[in-house]
Amino acid sequence: MKVIKMENPFEISKAVSQVIISKINEKPDCVLGFATGASPVETYKRIIEAYEKGEVSLKNITTFNLDEYCGLSHENKNSYYYFMKENLFGKTDVDFEKVNFLSGLSGNIEDECLAYQKAIENAGGIDIQLLGVGTNGHIGFNEPSESFSDGPFRVKLAQSTIDANSQYFGEDEEMPRYALTMGIGDIMRAEKIILIATGASKAKAVYSMVKGEVTPLCPASVLQNHKDVTIYIDNESAALL
Ligand code: GLP
Repeated sequence: MKVIKMENPFEISKAVSQVIISKINEKPDCVLGFATGASPVETYKRIIEAYEKGEVSLKNITTFNLDEYCGLSHENKNSYYYFMKENLFGKTDVDFEKVNFLSGLSGNIEDECLAYQKAIENAGGIDIQLLGVGTNGHIGFNEPSESFSDGPFRVKLAQSTIDANSQYFGEDEEMPRYALTMGIGDIMRAEKIILIATGASKAKAVYSMVKGEVTPLCPASVLQNHKDVTIYIDNESAALL
């Protein structure tokens, strides 16, 4: 596990976007695993800036997002699809035909999950998987549990996740209690993993992920077993290390 501590989220976004942009320029049809949430937003801004300056084109990349809320359509402003459209895809030349998402509206969860896992395989696997981490150590929506998952599945969200994410939903909107997520196996099969964790609320999760034992009670701790993972943290999230 390579842990890189930087002064602030802006510095992290410059470093992480550079890794992603270099990968795209070296392999224009690379496969990227993207994450939602506050952690990657600055990085996405730097990628958009580079695209606007003509330094990178995203038109040949294939993307797989980590997770999606159950019951939300692509048009729903709280869906992760909408988030990615607003914060990255729609502001670049990404080919939406090559954008892959678990469908939170699927009537057959099992088929949906199997098809997603197959699609990742058929694309040749993920070159770089970008991750954030939940305050409880979740990655994607792999909540603390008794065992590590392999492929995509439907998950009941933990109360701490509901507490952390309900701020993004309006007063009259109810946050879904279930989501579809890539499994730990899907994440671990990525060639390279980059995780961003900033702010004091992540300090405990960062400590358990980096220094704790590998246990499904802190899903992010499994990353200690990956051959190429870089964790970017700021002073606040590094406070307990
Ligand atoms: C969310 C998402 C994760 C994300 C994490 C941290 O619930 N499902 O993919 O990485 O929690 O979110 P944030 O970056 O907003 O702190």
